[in-house]
Amino acid sequence: MPVITCIDDLKQIYQRRVPRMFYDYAETGSWTEQTFRENTSDFDQIRLRQRVAVDMQGRSTATKMIGQDVSMPVALAPVGLTGMQHADGEIKAARAAEKFGVPFTLSTMSICSIEDVAANTTKPFWFQLYVMRDEEFVGNLIQRAKDAKCSAMVLTLDLQILGQRHKDLKNGLSAPPKLTPSTIANLMTKWSWGLEMMSTKRRFFGNIVGHAKGVKNAASLSDWTAEQFDPRLDWDKVKKLKEQWGGPLILKGILDAEDARMALDVGADAIVVSNHGGRQLDGALSSIRALSSIVDAVGDQIEVHLDSGIRSGQDVLKAMAMGAKGTYIGRAFVYGLGAMGQKGVTSALEVIHKELDTTMALCGRKHVEDLDRDILLIPKDFEGNWQ
Ligand SMILES: Cc1cc2nc3c(=O)[nH]c(=O)nc-3n(C[C@H](O)[C@H](O)[C@H](O)COP(=O)(O)O)c2cc1C
Repeated sequence: MPVITCIDDLKQIYQRRVPRMFYDYAETGSWTEQTFRENTSDFDQIRLRQRVAVDMQGRSTATKMIGQDVSMPVALAPVGLTGMQHADGEIKAARAAEKFGVPFTLSTMSICSIEDVAANTTKPFWFQLYVMRDEEFVGNLIQRAKDAKCSAMVLTLDLQILGQRHKDLKNGLSAPPKLTPSTIANLMTKWSWGLEMMSTKRRFFGNIVGHAKGVKNAASLSDWTAEQFDPRLDWDKVKKLKEQWGGPLILKGILDAEDARMALDVGADAIVVSNHGGRQLDGALSSIRALSSIVDAVGDQIEVHLDSGIRSGQDVLKAMAMGAKGTYIGRAFVYGLGAMGQKGVTSALEVIHKELDTTMALCGRKHVEDLDRDILLIPKDFEGNWQ
């Protein structure tokens, strides 16, 4: 077992182990990738205030997200095709999250189905919904998430149409991969991934195949998904979906204070300040830069979470100190999963936990609730001067 000291160690193993098509799928942003890059580089601009001679005993990273106990304020974000990064990937990631005491969010576009993840875990997980044109299918998905006892629904609002990622088009991304001369050449160098993938039956979108009308096989599936994301999604529809679901609701993909107020009006329990990891609107602000204006607008009335760009416990600490009440990691756990399956996701969580705990201590804080802007050094124009 290699010694893993940071998320980047996992990323390097992940890159060696997983077929190029799926590595590129994760490690890319839309168009010029400006927002994708700035999601991480903007975190780097914020510095920490070192404090000394503070009694550090009895520290804890434990807190709550939407009233649920978490061992640290870091959930696993919904990631489509997780089961292509590693065989049975969603089940493996969910199990690692469950053991670690953090929420796992299952994507609509997962390989393992809602029922399959529920049957292979012991604690409730969160379900992420993409709104599709087929209302009966969406209604059934919500019912299936209820039946599986999912403890929150994460409704994604920033993907009514798909941002363009050049590499996915060039690679002909599909699940399972189409066998062309170049994918075959690449797959031949990824034999451990291939052997594990051959030992599982979970190789298609498990929430869709057999559940959506007219989708019987991989070929019909790709046509179906391409035309299914519903461009009509609006706030009235969000209200209806909230009623249909009836449980805790998290609205994901908010990047603007006005939208945050709308989310508050529809009665959501939390919002996720997110630009989808830089995969949708290229040129949008990084999440960490957008956070303060949203916290100022609604932070005392609704729980504000953040994702996009988190690669370390220091990043988690910065987001929490700027007013977030929870964070999510996407790629950071995917690197771990692709590198080493369940162990790799655990390893990613351990790395981030250790970094968060140590950084908290060196900033002179013992509890997540004590994190505030006082421990940060933020460049003067970090959040301002946009017109
Ligand atoms: C490979 C990949 C697939 C994703 N699939 C989904 C998805 O199915 N649903 C969703 O709401 N967000 C999806 N996202 C966005 C993540 O939930 C999250 O917002 C993003 O990964 C956070 O940025 P980070 O990867 O820098 O942590 C995906 C992100 C990645 C990297």
